[in-house]
Amino acid sequence: MEILKEKEMEGFHYIKINEIPSTNSYLKNEYKKYKDNVILHTLSQTEGRGRFDRKWVSKNDLMFSILLFKNNNYSIIIPLSIIFALKKYNINTMIKWPNDIYLDNKKLAGILIEAIYQNTFIASIIGIGINYNDYSEFDAIGLNKNIDMEELISNIIIEYRKLNNLNEIDLMNLYKEYSLVLNKRITYKEKKYTVVDIDNNGYLIIKDEFNNILKLTSNEIKIDKNEVL
Ligand code: BTN
Repeated sequence: MEILKEKEMEGFHYIKINEIPSTNSYLKNEYKKYKDNVILHTLSQTEGRGRFDRKWVSKNDLMFSILLFKNNNYSIIIPLSIIFALKKYNINTMIKWPNDIYLDNKKLAGILIEAIYQNTFIASIIGIGINYNDYSEFDAIGLNKNIDMEELISNIIIEYRKLNNLNEIDLMNLYKEYSLVLNKRITYKEKKYTVVDIDNNGYLIIKDEFNNILKLTSNEIKIDKNEVL
């Protein structure tokens, strides 16, 4: 791991490195080295991690993690920060519950939120991977644009700061406005449901054909394409 750049970025300590196994794992192990909020941006990751213990394979894409010594509703605030930052480049994205970012019905970005506890809460680590390349094998799409990575990170932080000041109701309304699944048909555990709401805890409220209601916390769902209500 070689440090390529260090600077102040919107009140965060930004560090750019050439290569690391995983920015999330690094900050999880080494958080004691830092006192202030840190952004660790790597040009290459050899053991990138995704949700559900999956691998995150990435080549020349945007990969960074944010270390915050504070707990908040990040699974609502962070996807919205990415959406509003991308809007500045005229890229309109949506949230596939709980916090994947979709462009043209394909995955553009993923978020992995982890917390460090030692008897009590210590810090949150928010890992963000934004594709710059298309990955057809994963049905994933890239920005394919000449967007400067450092500038995009700083725009995400600017939007994060604004959203951090909003109350829970306004945040949830925004989250629902950009939801790709609300009022749509989805498949969960091979059964069809309709998404009827997303509650204030960010839980997904789904209904089956017999009007049985289920509440999902952070499970995996599939959006049913070509299905109209
Ligand atoms: C997902 O969609 O499953 C979440 C993917 C998160 C990937 C990012 S890349 C930077 C950070 N470091 C990791 O090991 N993972 C996250």
